[in-house]
Formats: sequence, structure tokens, C-alpha cells
Amino acid sequence: MDYKFVDFNIKGDERGYLIAFEENVNVPFDVKRVFYIFDTKGSVTRGQHANKNTKHLLINISGSCRIKIDNGKEQLDFLLNRPDQGLFINNMVWKEMHEFSYNCILMVLASEYYDETEYIRDYDEYLKIANNSGLLTVNGEVSDIWKQ
Ligand code: TYD
Repeated sequence: MDYKFVDFNIKGDERGYLIAFEENVNVPFDVKRVFYIFDTKGSVTRGQHANKNTKHLLINISGSCRIKIDNGKEQLDFLLNRPDQGLFINNMVWKEMHEFSYNCILMVLASEYYDETEYIRDYDEYLKIANNSGLLTVNGEVSDIWKQ
């Protein structure tokens, strides 16, 4: 399964804390896009898609949510509740976000510009593509340090 938890260094002093993201340093790709998800009801499931090309790094900067990832063979479900921890998810991994706390802000760094045509939103179609091509690293290898 192509995912990896990343711990970020916290810069801090008596005034408070700060975390910095730098592409190809503590973010394992060139960052083309940043978005964040907020004010999502706890009963809602978001995501439910795989991206053919885009790699993501998810950081729950406020509150908590759960992330389910699935490569067609294995499903894992993680709690994200720390602003100093990221979850890297490679392209072609099915992902779902759920159990959002009322104050959840889920920030996402992405390796590609938004392109709806690279989304697979149908799970059966995802299984077909994933099973046929063994393509969990289809568009570029993840270097070993980012593989798990
Ligand atoms: P969607 O993919 O459904 O969100 P989620 O993965 O959280 O379930 O996207 C919601 C809307 O936002 C949809 O209209 C597409 C748009 N969108 C952008 O315009 N740019 C982006 O970078 C993203 C991620 C979504």
C-alpha cells in the first residue's frame, strides 16, 4: 500500500508554534496545489475516489478526521488528529475521509493541478484499473524513504 506517515518538525518558542512545508524536503513531491476541507458534518463521507496522477499529503491542522485508504486488496483506516503529522497517499490509492470533528480542518498538498479527468470516482472501475495494471505506482516511483 503506498502511504507513509510523516512527522514534521515543530518550530516553537514562548510565542507559540509553527510548522513549515518545503517541497521535496518534507513534502515528497513538487507542490502544485493546496486546498483544505473544513466545516464538514461528522456524518459525511468525502473523497471516495482515486487519482490517476495526483499524490497527496494530508495534514489535519485542526480537530480530527479518519482517512480510509484502499488499494483494491487491502483497506486501512487511520485517525488524523495532529497538526505535526502528515499522511502521504500515492496516486491510484482509493481514499475516503470520514468522522470529521466539528472543528476539523484537513489541509491537503497535491502534486498536480486540479483535473477532474484524472479522478476515478467509481469503485468498480477503480478495481478494474488497479487489478489490470498493477499500477499502484503508475506515474513515477515513490522513493524508498516514502514507501511503506
Ligand atoms: P470533491 O473532489 O468532491 O471533494 P472531496 O474529495 O473532498 O470529496 O470536490 C468538491 C468540489 O471542489 C468539486 O466541485 C471540485 C472542486 N475542487 C476544485 O475546484 N479544486 C480542487 O483542488 C479540489 C480538490 C476540488
